[in-house]
Amino acid sequence: MFQFPKGFLWGAATASYQIEGAWNEDGKGESIWDRFSHTPGMVQDGDTGDVACDHYHRWREDVALMKDLGLNAYRFSTAWARILPEGRGRVNPAGIDFYSRLVDALLEAKIEPWITLYHWDLPQALQDKGGWTERAVVDAFLEYTDTVTRALGDRVKNWITLNEPWVSAFVGYEMGRHAPGHTSRDEAIAAAHHLLLAHGKAVPLIRANCANANAGVTLNLSPQEPASPSLADKKAAAWFDGYINRWFLDPLAARGYPQDMVNSFGNKMEFIQPGDMDAIAAPVDFVGVNYYMRGVIRADNVSEEENEPRSVFRGDEETEMGWEVYPKGLYNTLGRLHFEYGFPAIYITENGAAFADTVTDGQVDDPARLSYIKRHLEMVSRAINAGMPVKGYFVWSLLDNFEWGFGFSKRFGIVYVDYKTQKRTVKSSGRWYSRFIREMTV
Ligand code: FCB
Repeated sequence: MFQFPKGFLWGAATASYQIEGAWNEDGKGESIWDRFSHTPGMVQDGDTGDVACDHYHRWREDVALMKDLGLNAYRFSTAWARILPEGRGRVNPAGIDFYSRLVDALLEAKIEPWITLYHWDLPQALQDKGGWTERAVVDAFLEYTDTVTRALGDRVKNWITLNEPWVSAFVGYEMGRHAPGHTSRDEAIAAAHHLLLAHGKAVPLIRANCANANAGVTLNLSPQEPASPSLADKKAAAWFDGYINRWFLDPLAARGYPQDMVNSFGNKMEFIQPGDMDAIAAPVDFVGVNYYMRGVIRADNVSEEENEPRSVFRGDEETEMGWEVYPKGLYNTLGRLHFEYGFPAIYITENGAAFADTVTDGQVDDPARLSYIKRHLEMVSRAINAGMPVKGYFVWSLLDNFEWGFGFSKRFGIVYVDYKTQKRTVKSSGRWYSRFIREMTV
């Protein structure tokens, strides 16, 4: 039933703010997520990433855990403010050392490091100057990229510039549910442009600093399907597809911003300067896709004001996030990236599910998560058989962790974390994944 090529990557993913803790240790600067989570009312139950999984102190144990599980790749992000506490200028050597030791330990354990340079934790000092809405942030990102790739590029080959720029821009600057908590669509559109530009300009820099670099970007992609064949529903679904998927895919594929969306947004796009669109379309080695669910859109259930895709129909199954379980959407997304956009290689950089786990007699039995992962892997296997260039799969997440606005209330790990004791317990999904990897790699 399952077929995966030799050399396929089997990984797990995390992100700095969600697991590290040590928010103000060893010279780390404040990030927008520190500021946001410390602001009352922004995160459920007042949770913060101050300690999180304490990975900053427990990384050796976590690398050993990955080795036991048999992973051959690990995707993590570097915290910009740990490396450049003010966003640019002064480098914090302790920050570099932390990631350098982690990289060495991973290589020693035969686990390929995959670094995401930006997984949402912008230094607060840059936010104070306008954050992603200001063009100057692009140069700051390049300075940061240069610093990290010079320090680690002798050992790290795989680089993801950004994680989910749609979320950074629109959830952070338009919906206000993520840091920095702003509520302006025009700000979000400018932020999206500067994120894309930062990505595009970073790609050649990564290549210059690392021999044989494998450089790309990770997008949250989600098919937006009409709830009925009516013209109104089709139009509404096309709008959400433009908003979430095409606004990023099109410029990356050198097609410019989708005109239907430019018209709908009514933004003059005055922040675009000559050469920007070419820079954004710098050829990538791969696109990373984070896939969780689809959207099913009904015209009369969509408010463009609210700017959120509201699915009307949920299948028989949903996760603790209220997200529909729909594995076929992953297959369709991979097909689109390959057949419609022609990206050279695709990695699934996140896929997974939150369920309410409980510990019983020291065991965490999570059949729903196991089944979610297994059914999505079936789709990956089918996609590969159909000729799609899928090269690796990273489960989200290695550990239960700080789930942004939901704090610690949502558990995505294949490893359970007891936040009081920091004890890690491999869930049955994790044990299954581990066996599966071994079977697929013999
Ligand atoms: C993605 C994020 C990741 C995690 C999962 C559940 O959007 O990239 O950090 O929160 O969702």
